Amino acid sequence: MSEQKVIISNDLKTDLERFLSTLKYDKLFILTDTNTKEKCYPLIKDISVLQAARLICILSGDVHKNQEQLSAVWQILSNEGASRNSLLINLGGGMITDLGGFAGATFKRGLQTLNIPTTLMALVDAAVGGKTGINFNGLKNEIGSFYPPVCVFINSSFLRTLDWNNLLSGYAEMMKHALISSMETYASVLSFDLSKPVDYALLNRMVAQSVAIKERIVEEDPKEKGIRKALNFGHTVGHAIESLSFKTDTPLLHGHAVAVGIVCELYLSYKQCGFPTDKLTQTIHYIKEYYPPFFFDCKAYDSLYEWMTHDKKNENGIINFTLLSDIGQIHINRSVNKELIWESLDFYRESFGI
Ligand code: GLY
Repeated sequence: MSEQKVIISNDLKTDLERFLSTLKYDKLFILTDTNTKEKCYPLIKDISVLQAARLICILSGDVHKNQEQLSAVWQILSNEGASRNSLLINLGGGMITDLGGFAGATFKRGLQTLNIPTTLMALVDAAVGGKTGINFNGLKNEIGSFYPPVCVFINSSFLRTLDWNNLLSGYAEMMKHALISSMETYASVLSFDLSKPVDYALLNRMVAQSVAIKERIVEEDPKEKGIRKALNFGHTVGHAIESLSFKTDTPLLHGHAVAVGIVCELYLSYKQCGFPTDKLTQTIHYIKEYYPPFFFDCKAYDSLYEWMTHDKKNENGIINFTLLSDIGQIHINRSVNKELIWESLDFYRESFGI
């Protein structure tokens, strides 16, 4: 697998023009969704090197990260004569970088992709690291591949286009990166004031730190055979909560589900690995301050457990968690029994007064 380049760019126009002038491609495509076409594409559309691009627009939202939208992208690539030497720029949040990345990975067995993430979630997580895919059969990211883009441009100017819920959603991944890295990052992430007005200058610096944490881990283990599983902290429960929320009238953004998952998996970490209670309490306090509670009752536990059995980290039918014995002290492939998983769901509901 080729290595991806990550460019922290303060001047997207100049940096993109310079990078594209070094890249050989025959046709250029830009993938957007209905939101990013309206809010983000105008920020780049005047860049001269992008004038020849064919714009593709699909429906926005994770519920559309599916076969229909993927097929729509393949169809346009095919109709427009895209080749293996074509370049597909994915301009959007995680839904676009995941689906566009997978379209790129599979079209004629792979054309070149480049990510310009526009949400905090995509900037710090989804767009970096080469994971691509779509949801399938009610399961998150069930179909996909590891297919690194040729480059990821980290430019925080898009953050100002984000609504509050999307900002919180991405911030949950920054919390995760802090929990699996160092006390210093953890302290800075938990002291950041997420109430408005947001200090974007400080957030930009924290984004660069967060991306660096992910990059280090992905470089060491690009195909998630070992330590990359650390990046799944909070996601075993988080993905199940997200799937549950998709069955309701109020589907959660990914990071909001991850925030629930972080609470549950910190509890499991405390029970199984001795994660310190003061840091558990501190983290829950922060999450409670900003993230609305997700309402569910014990009737949902069986379904949540069933979703967890589909987690990609599992082996031989055993649900494998990534747990922590302290900040940055990672334990991968930790199996947890059903009773304790249910206890962690009880813990979340009690902590949030549900
Ligand atoms: N989002 C977790 C990873 O990229 O491994």
